[in-house]
Amino acid sequence: FRLVVLVSGSGTNLQALLDAATDHAFGATVVAVGADRTGIEGLIRAERAGVPTFVERVGDHPDREKWDESLAERIAEHKPDLVVSAGFMKILGPRVLGAFPVVNTHPALLPAFPGAHAVRDALAYGVRVTGCTVHLVDAGVDTGPVIAQEAVAVREGDDEESLHERIKGVERGLLVETVGRMAREGWTLTGRTVRLGPGRV
Ligand code: GRF
Repeated sequence: FRLVVLVSGSGTNLQALLDAATDHAFGATVVAVGADRTGIEGLIRAERAGVPTFVERVGDHPDREKWDESLAERIAEHKPDLVVSAGFMKILGPRVLGAFPVVNTHPALLPAFPGAHAVRDALAYGVRVTGCTVHLVDAGVDTGPVIAQEAVAVREGDDEESLHERIKGVERGLLVETVGRMAREGWTLTGRTVRLGPGRV
């Protein structure tokens, strides 16, 4: 079961998938890592693991449609069964989304706190519980069908960094477990409900 992982930053979620994939029982391998920028730790993590990488910068293309097209072609070269957006900070276009199933991990309990500042927004709101979500990606921003979620308590004195680190500690486990189950057991999507288990989408 072939995974292409998309990153934009430190790649700790990617690292969790790379580590999990060293165990054959995980049922999936990371066949390539794509990024929207160079010079990020996520690409170094891939290179260390001997996984091919590619970079497609929006700014290298005349417009987002051409970027979307180019990114879809780069991903297609690796023939993925599933694309995993793990801290990828660009909205994927219709060419990518039309060609592959994509899951995303988000550091909040969607539909609460979508967008690029979920942890900051949850703290600012004063929630006592937040968490992380693995969901299928649709054309919106963090709006696709939920696959798995896990709650994380907010602690006195938390700031954005301490809370995000605690969430990320839970998030990578949830992502590995969810992607592993999708690889081994398959999944079905009915309306907005994703069911893991027999029967493939
Ligand atoms: C993760 O919390 C992800 O949900 C969010 O940004 C963070 C990326 O972390 N979009 P990393 O690059 O996987 O370390």
